[in-house]
Parts: sequence; C-alpha cells; structure tokens
Amino acid sequence: GAPLEVDLSPITDGQIVNVFWRGKLIFVRKLTEKEITDMKAVPVNQLIDPAAADTRVKKGHEQWLVVYGNCTHLGCVPIGHSGNFEGWSCPCHGSQFDALGRVRRGPAPINLPIPPYAFQSDTKIRIG
Ligand code: FES
Repeated sequence: GAPLEVDLSPITDGQIVNVFWRGKLIFVRKLTEKEITDMKAVPVNQLIDPAAADTRVKKGHEQWLVVYGNCTHLGCVPIGHSGNFEGWSCPCHGSQFDALGRVRRGPAPINLPIPPYAFQSDTKIRIG
C-alpha cells in the first residue's frame, strides 16, 4: 500500500486520532507534558513487555506516539483515556495499555506495535 501522510497540526495535547493504513487502525496521540513525565518515571522492570521500552517515540518528537490500534491479545480496539495507566483499556478481556501503548495489564502479551513512520517536518509524518 501507499504511504499515508498525517498532518499533525490540528491534533491537540492529549488527543488521540484514528487513521487507517493498509487497512489497519493506527492511533496517533499527542502526549501531554504530564503523560511524558509520568511515562518516563515507570521503571522498565515493571513492564510486562520491556522490549524496546525506550524507543516508543522518536527522538526530538517525544510528544508523538504512533501505534497500531488493535489489542495484542485478540485484536479488539482498546478505548483511549481509560484504565489505570493514562492510556487505553480493552473492552474485550480487560488488558490495559499506558500512554506509550505499553501493555501494563494482561492478557495482552506485548505492547501495541509501532508501524514504520518518519517525521517529514515537525507537523507531518509519513506512515509506511
Ligand atoms: Fe483485548 Fe482480549 S482482545 S484483552
């Protein structure tokens, strides 16, 4: 599929926008300063899936999270700004993800994956 350009300029602090790329739901989220601070304070050894815990966002663009929008358990769509970790909770079996899309409560086994994307400017990304 073709790459997808996303204009970030209309997205406000804390907002989560849904986009689709190659038929897959992707969340684009603008983190608040508090969320960034809170996520940095989480010890990596508390994470269910500590893999690549420090590469969830791009250097110099720490306000932006881009993740696939289907639960890594059985694929339901987690609900934003719900649960106990400033992130998402899954309505199907109760998994919870934090503001960086890291799984914090199972049964989901791994973090929400990050699709391939790059910043083209401070206000535009290209997914794919
Ligand atoms: Fe999300 Fe099962 S599909 S917890």
